[in-house]
Amino acid sequence: MECQYDLFNKPVEVKNNGKKFPTTRYNGSKLKLSEWIGSQLSDLEFNTCLDAFGGTGSISYKLKEMDKKVTYNDILSFNHYIGKALIENENTILDDNDLNFILNENKNVEYKSTIQDNFKDIYFTESENQWLDKTIANINTIDNIYKYSIAFFALAQACIIKRPYNLFHRKNLYMRLSNVKRSFGNKTTWDTPFEELFRKFVNEANEAVFSNSYENTALNMNAFDIDDYFDLVYIDTPYISEKGTFVDYFGFYHFLEGLTIYDDWENHIDYNSKHHRLKPKKNIFNDKKQIHKGFDELFKKYEDSIIVVSYRNDGTPTENELKEILESYKSKVSIKNFGHYKYVLSKNSKSKEILYIGE
Ligand SMILES: C[S@@+](CC[C@H](N)C(=O)[O-])C[C@H]1O[C@@H](n2cnc3c(N)ncnc32)[C@H](O)[C@@H]1O
Repeated sequence: MECQYDLFNKPVEVKNNGKKFPTTRYNGSKLKLSEWIGSQLSDLEFNTCLDAFGGTGSISYKLKEMDKKVTYNDILSFNHYIGKALIENENTILDDNDLNFILNENKNVEYKSTIQDNFKDIYFTESENQWLDKTIANINTIDNIYKYSIAFFALAQACIIKRPYNLFHRKNLYMRLSNVKRSFGNKTTWDTPFEELFRKFVNEANEAVFSNSYENTALNMNAFDIDDYFDLVYIDTPYISEKGTFVDYFGFYHFLEGLTIYDDWENHIDYNSKHHRLKPKKNIFNDKKQIHKGFDELFKKYEDSIIVVSYRNDGTPTENELKEILESYKSKVSIKNFGHYKYVLSKNSKSKEILYIGE
C-alpha cells in the first residue's frame, strides 16, 4: 500500500503499481473513496468501462489500476486534459528541457496580456497574472498532446491551490492579501510562487503516468452524447441538495476553462459579472425540476451496461427515487453504503455516501 495525504493532511491509502495519483483539490472528488469504490466493483465482470463524469479522474485512475480499458469523460475541457495526462497517456512525461521552455520567455512565442487586462484584482496579483499570460502562451505552443496535458494539468492545479475556497466563483483576491486572522484556507500556499507549485504538480503528474497495456481514452463530451458501448458505466453527477442548491462546476471553474480557449477567451467573458466569468451555459444538473428526467435519460442511454452510481443520500432525487429510476432499466439493483462522509469545504457532515450497482 502506498500512502498519500488528503487536503487535511490525513493519510489516504492508495494501491497502484508504485504510482501515486496527484493531490488534487476539486469539488466532489472521489479520491478518498476510490479504494472503497474499487473494492465494490472488484467482483463484477467487465473489461471496458466509462467514467462518464470524470472530474479529477480519481475513479478512472483506480479502474486503470484494476487493469480495465478505461474511457474518461468530462464536459469541462480543463478536466479532460487530466484524463489525457493521467489516463490516456502511457509513458510521456515533462522533462527538464520542457520545463525550461515553459517557465521562460522564448524568442518565437507571441505573448499577450489577456489575463492582465481582464482579471486585474480579481483572482491573482499583477505579477501572477503576468506569469500566467507568459506560461499559457508557452504551453499553447507544445505539439505533443500528452506533454501539453501534463503542463495544463499542473497549471490548473497551481491556479486552484492559490485560490481561497479553491474556486473562481467570486472576485475575492482581497481575502488572500488582507492582513487578518483567518479561520480557513492556507495563506502560505496562496502565497507560494506559481513556478514552485507548477513544478510540484508536474512532478506529481510525471510520477502518476503508467500503462496498463490497454489503449485508454479521454473524452470531452456531454455524457448524454457518448455513443459507444461499455461493459460498465460509472456515474458521478454533480450534486443537487434536497432544497435544489446545485454545484455549478462551469461557474466554479470558468477561469480554467478560459485558459483552454486562451486566444478566444475575451469573446466568451460575461463582462456584466464582477468576477468576469464565462457566459453561463445550460446544464440539466443545475435544475432540480429536470433532474429526475435527466437520470432517467442517462440510465436509458446506458441500459445495456452495468450501471454504477455514486450518490449522497440527502440529494435530489431522494435515495429511493433514484433506486426506482434505476430499477426501471436494471433487473438487479444493489446498494452499498460507505457511511458518513464529509466532502472538502462542505458543511454537511450528516450525509451518507452510497453506491448503486445496477446489473
Ligand atoms: C461530482 S464531479 C465528479 C467527480 C469525480 N468522480 C472525481 O473523483 O473527481 C461531477 C463532474 O461532472 C462534470 N459534468 C457536469 N455535467 C456533465 C455532463 N453533462 N456530462 C459530462 N460531465 C459533466 C463536471 O464538470 C464535474 O467534473
